[in-house]
Amino acid sequence: MSHLSNSSPKRFLHPAGAPVAPPRLYGGRIMMRPLVSHDFEAWSEVRLRNVEWLTVWEPRRSEFLADPATDRDAFERRCVARDRERQNGSAYTLGLFFNNILIGEVNINNVVRGAMQTGTIGYWIDRKHAGNGYVAEGVAAIIKFAFDELKLHRLEVCIIPRNSNSKRIVEKLNLRFEGLAERFLEINGVWEDHLRYAITTEEWHERRDALTHEWLTIKK
Ligand SMILES: CC(C)(COP(=O)(O)OP(=O)(O)OC[C@H]1O[C@@H](n2cnc3c(N)ncnc32)[C@H](O)[C@@H]1OP(=O)(O)O)[C@@H](O)C(=O)NCCC(=O)NCCS
Repeated sequence: MSHLSNSSPKRFLHPAGAPVAPPRLYGGRIMMRPLVSHDFEAWSEVRLRNVEWLTVWEPRRSEFLADPATDRDAFERRCVARDRERQNGSAYTLGLFFNNILIGEVNINNVVRGAMQTGTIGYWIDRKHAGNGYVAEGVAAIIKFAFDELKLHRLEVCIIPRNSNSKRIVEKLNLRFEGLAERFLEINGVWEDHLRYAITTEEWHERRDALTHEWLTIKK
């Protein structure tokens, strides 16, 4: 018998060491998991209600592509695409839930292995739930996942200088400021400068206990 046939699929790891199974991550109050097709109604509701709040901070969506917020098939294709990215280790996109309600997303994009072992963190939250520190919890949880499970070496967050709400996330988590990247990303149709903040696995190991206590522990 082949050595493959009697092994549980869970035992097979991605060649880069990344787990293939859908992750479930927890902060003190939030939970994160990949979105699936039955999340369409929740996705549609939260994205349509937050169009003005989010559009100014996101890449412009092509008018030739169906909108996953209004088109169920497009949302299902988005879920499949995100699953493929996770399985090939290039990106990890997780829905952010509070009390089992979808309130946003936190992701690691642009995962590069080889000599770099890096990824870029992104996030958004429903305006109705803003100001409660939920995204900082989600970012702390995904940092832990990236260093402890994915074994990445460096993570970065890139922020338009005028996005003061987003800058509060990296300030609260005390990520290291690296500098300004000019015309770095296309946001809402414009090549925008971005401030770059980073953390490496060495810093995570030094700060793991404090970050875990502050953001990932359930407070009574
Ligand atoms: C940036 C963002 C993810 C922060 O998430 P959050 O969970 O609200 O973060 P926090 O609770 O830590 O709040 C951050 C700051 O937002 C501001 N804020 C709080 N509540 C707010 C509200 N209801 N509306 C507007 N701003 C608010 C406050 O200045 C707060 O700082 P403080 O805690 O020192 O008072 C969220 O503002 C968002 O989704 N913005 C639109 C998308 C975006 O900018 N994504 C990031 C691109 S880099």
